Amino acid sequence: MVKISALQGISNIFQKQGSHGTPRRRTPKREHSWVDVSDDDLEVRSAKKQAASSSKAMHNPNHGHGPRKKPRVSAPAHLPSKEPIQMQRQQLPIYAGKDAVIDVIRQNDVTVLIGETGSGKTTQVPQYLFEAGLAGSGMIAVTQPRRVAATSLASRVASEKQTSVGSLVGYSVRFDEASSSNTKIKYLTDGMIVRELLGDPLLSRYSVVIVDEAHERTLRTDLLIANLKTILQARNGPTRSGKDDRGKGKGKAQESSGKLNPLKVVIMSATLEAEKFSRFFGGAKVVYVKGRQHPVTIYHTATSQPDYVDAALRTFFQVHLDQGPGDVLIFLPGQEDIESLEKSIQLYANQLPKDSLGVMILPLYASLQPARQAKIFASTPSGMRKVILATNIAETSITIPGVKYVIDTGKCKEKRYVAKNTGTGFDTLLTRDITQSSAVQRAGRAGREGKGYCFRLYTEDAFKKMPRTAEPEIRRCTLTSSLLQLKCLGQDLEELDFMDKPDAESIVSALKTLFLLGALDHTKSLTPLGRQMAAFPLEPPLARALVASAELGCTSEILTILSVLSASSKLFVDTHDAREEAADARKKFRHASGDHMTVLNVVKAYEDVSQSESKKARTDWCRRMFVNERCLAEAANIRAQLRDVCEKTSMDWKVSAEGQGQDGEARVLRAMVAGLVQNTAFLQPDGSYKQVMGPSVVKIHPSSSLADKKVPAIIYDELVYTTQIYARGVSAVPRSFIAEVPVLKRRTS
Ligand code: CDP
Ligand code: MG
Repeated sequence: MVKISALQGISNIFQKQGSHGTPRRRTPKREHSWVDVSDDDLEVRSAKKQAASSSKAMHNPNHGHGPRKKPRVSAPAHLPSKEPIQMQRQQLPIYAGKDAVIDVIRQNDVTVLIGETGSGKTTQVPQYLFEAGLAGSGMIAVTQPRRVAATSLASRVASEKQTSVGSLVGYSVRFDEASSSNTKIKYLTDGMIVRELLGDPLLSRYSVVIVDEAHERTLRTDLLIANLKTILQARNGPTRSGKDDRGKGKGKAQESSGKLNPLKVVIMSATLEAEKFSRFFGGAKVVYVKGRQHPVTIYHTATSQPDYVDAALRTFFQVHLDQGPGDVLIFLPGQEDIESLEKSIQLYANQLPKDSLGVMILPLYASLQPARQAKIFASTPSGMRKVILATNIAETSITIPGVKYVIDTGKCKEKRYVAKNTGTGFDTLLTRDITQSSAVQRAGRAGREGKGYCFRLYTEDAFKKMPRTAEPEIRRCTLTSSLLQLKCLGQDLEELDFMDKPDAESIVSALKTLFLLGALDHTKSLTPLGRQMAAFPLEPPLARALVASAELGCTSEILTILSVLSASSKLFVDTHDAREEAADARKKFRHASGDHMTVLNVVKAYEDVSQSESKKARTDWCRRMFVNERCLAEAANIRAQLRDVCEKTSMDWKVSAEGQGQDGEARVLRAMVAGLVQNTAFLQPDGSYKQVMGPSVVKIHPSSSLADKKVPAIIYDELVYTTQIYARGVSAVPRSFIAEVPVLKRRTS
């Protein structure tokens, strides 16, 4: 057992740096200088040079669009009373510029709105526009790169509106939706709105589309922005530098005469890179909201800290034991590091003297369940210090009140396409150094409510060497799924006007994957199969497996497998403390063919237990079997959603291979092979596996039920890169299953 005294004895990794023996300080002014755009609360600029010189503060007190009376809906019990939340709204920096924001958006087709994180852009602007009547008969969409942001923001705004989520304010994220015919403000992931394009190419349900966190430049956000440009042309007519003068003379009559209602686009971002967005939309108006940023003292380490989790642990306790009140926000790359640090902090915190400040640990990452999200925003109980362990989601999308200290590991996870050397169509998440722009944002989180401190677990030199901003995802991620969606819209990656063009090599690779899956023919045209695949919110290989299952008569089984694969958490609980017990328990479900059939065994066993036992007995069973009940619950939900899509596309989801012994199993595996064509490998004489479609030699991941097994051929869900390339989610299949896929015939003969 580690004693707390051991921690107290650690050297202060920040004290040694600087040549004067004192921590080197950076004035926050240098890092946050952009905050002082103007002395006014709001400044409107045009991206065009001549207009920029005549920029002026926009304040128009006479332009009051007071809140309209809304139907009264009683507030859910857990919500705070109306007074404080409405007062909070009025204290946000954006409130002072409310009328000006509404005016600019009313007068322009496209507006770029820049404002410091926490100034109220995401929660307030949609409400302002709604209150000012800009939703008209349509809806206001607010897009977010991450689902946890979309759902938590919808809850927040619903409570500000004194309603429950799903009525006036709703959300839509993959495999989860809360909205109704009354919904006027909808928070959705950028992926969901791109998906909506398939059924509604002009996004006609929306009067306003707010593209939030645009600086993140996710692939879906870029796709959306490119499409918005064409939609604006179609709905609003040729743009006149984004100026909206349709209102004059025509007004509502045009809207109700069956013509398309005009669209307003608002691009929102927390960083200063506004010009590029503005230029893309032919010189759109840029509005800067002045934030409220207090000074943040930034410390760098004297030497680099390869074990950043350990460094974060030590730094946290230094802050906790030596510094005054204030919550701590620690930035880590991903869920695994978050969980590991959570355990370590808890371990030490339990040994703190009884009279010391308690520690309340709150993780925050993309797949966090809604029930746990809520705690992050609750105020810190007295006698406690909150420590939030977050991914880069807390950089700009979610503002947590009360944070005074930020500990920045300088790491994030980045999606990157690795097709070049592996031949797969999947992205891999790699831990990488962050960019300077992220580092500045992270530090800024400490200065929201007062003077703050940021401890960077990297040297000042390392900071200087960081790239300024990240490369847009479109330049580094697999384009397969996007290309399929674009093909369904009759568009093409090569032709669409993007802010940054994807590179030719990734386009070729996406074309190849879609061709191999049968979604495109040799003239690169969409096939009926491709259209069928695009209906499912799944990566094309998984969608292909699902379509194949219909012909093979095993849709029920494939739906179950795909749902578990699509869940955000793993099926088996990984535990260091009881490794052997866990392995023993897992053996009970093991299927000789490998991980895909094993998934079916687990789900089946769980369903049996669920039918005969109480909820508590079921949870106990999961604990004993080291099975993650959360994953199963999520998978059940995903399965229901996929089933709905099957119904809509007239696919029989009930058809099952159950009770058909080996023949049934063979059909399930054949369907998986149809989807995972690029994820196939043959055993080599030396015992390793060589990809059928790529050059890599892979090993079976130790977590697989086939680890260390030698079988003639395998399929796998994904590759994981550590010291070597591992295949994860592996099944053994007869070589003939692979050879019989038409596109693979030549390679396997
Ligand atoms: O988008 P921006 O970063 O400009 O700010 P925002 O997300 O609209 O947040 C405005 C304020 O609402 C912040 O002070 C947040 O702390 C608060 N907020 C909250 O208390 N709970 C949420 N779920 C979301 C925001
Ligand atoms: Mg925001």
